[in-house]
Amino acid sequence: MAHKPIKRVPVPGFIYVIAAFAGLGGFLFGYDTGAISGALLYIKKDMTLTTFQQELVVAVLLFCAAMSAPFAGISADRFGRKKVVIAAALFFIVGALLMAFTPGYKLLILGRAFVGVAIGFASMTVPLYVAEMSPPNIRGLCVSLNQFLITVGILVAYGVDLSFSGIDGGWRWMLGLPMIPAAILLIAMFFLPESPRWLIKHGHKERAKTIFKKLGMSDIEMEGTLQEISKTASHQKSDFKQLLKPSIRPALVIGILLAVFQQISGINTVIYYAPTLLASIAKETDVAALIATVGIGSVNVFITAIALYLLDRVGRRPLLLVGTSFMIISLIILGMEKWIPHGEEWITWIYNGSLFLYIAGFAIGLGPVAWLFIAEIYPMRIRGVAMSCATFANWAANFIVAITFLSLLNTLGPSLTFWFYAVIAICTFLFIYFYIPETKGKTLEEIELSFKKGGVTPPLN
Ligand code: BGC
Repeated sequence: MAHKPIKRVPVPGFIYVIAAFAGLGGFLFGYDTGAISGALLYIKKDMTLTTFQQELVVAVLLFCAAMSAPFAGISADRFGRKKVVIAAALFFIVGALLMAFTPGYKLLILGRAFVGVAIGFASMTVPLYVAEMSPPNIRGLCVSLNQFLITVGILVAYGVDLSFSGIDGGWRWMLGLPMIPAAILLIAMFFLPESPRWLIKHGHKERAKTIFKKLGMSDIEMEGTLQEISKTASHQKSDFKQLLKPSIRPALVIGILLAVFQQISGINTVIYYAPTLLASIAKETDVAALIATVGIGSVNVFITAIALYLLDRVGRRPLLLVGTSFMIISLIILGMEKWIPHGEEWITWIYNGSLFLYIAGFAIGLGPVAWLFIAEIYPMRIRGVAMSCATFANWAANFIVAITFLSLLNTLGPSLTFWFYAVIAICTFLFIYFYIPETKGKTLEEIELSFKKGGVTPPLN
């Protein structure tokens, strides 16, 4: 298929409003995964929790996020993208209320489970919803606004944890405050439109046209888009059986693998355990380690902002390849700790520098692109269920890394652990190089048709 060059046409602000409000789902995802490390320090004292109970507080969220993704997929295809985001907002609110007012451990766990379900719903549906609304020439930016808000959520969580530390019952605020953005998300979603692509698939062409118009589409563009969508949309019911069809399999496998590589290359060992790592490896004090953690959160936000700017300009593939190379280099350096003398100031600089490089590499590539890519590559008729498989795989991998990392560190020691992740990062690089096609500037329908024709490897460009 011949591809048109990307025209930088002016786009009405409405799509940015949609992406920003729906992106509150991403903010809450980041906040709730980031806030727990600080809150847990106080909860464990207040409730005298065992180590296992503490691990459960962390793990239950990841587990429920993984388990809820398939339901989100089926519901998004059957009932619409918007309703699933509304359900996510409700789960976020109930979860925050339960955690903030809990009299004891059991309701705390229930609250974390609610938030887990909310995150499973939001992490899948928000990128999907925004991808289906965005013009191709700014789709990378709009969808990845969600990833940007995830990183902002993580950073805000670190800040809130610091502000409420030392205050009696401060952890209730740490876990309860996200109720506010969740309520804003809920209200906003009642005013935002349903995805026009989903509406067309369900026979509401006229409503879809009105929304496309509001999104700035001219009549000619709309005719072309409607024709392309009707070529790809079918009225078959969306279910998991459809995923086994040979025409779907390549995209399904590639998306799942990218989602898994995003996690098993170790990002959350840094996001969740940075203070522990810095304190033990670089022999930093707790306070210095906490400050460095805030630094890591800031680099994550800043570099993700740069990625947003570059995604629709240089494309997804170059960012993925450069970012993964940074991650490999920094993991190799971190793994050299066995041979480098401890306790000297320059060592601390090297370790901090490597962690910063690692985060920067993730933030420019795998962070935004993994979610963007799985929102772009699946055929319209099963987009929700297919994306939910990749989302499930992402959260399941996240769960496995989170529960094994500290044992791995204890058994193998830091050097081998980091090299283990370096090997995975090298595999990630090779996988991207050979299998991830460029999707920059193409309509979702063009991407779908290319996959159908077997253009699953880089030549998609
Ligand atoms: C990942 C999360 C990670 C976050 C860090 C997201 O894309 O899915 O697991 O914590 O990025 O920025």
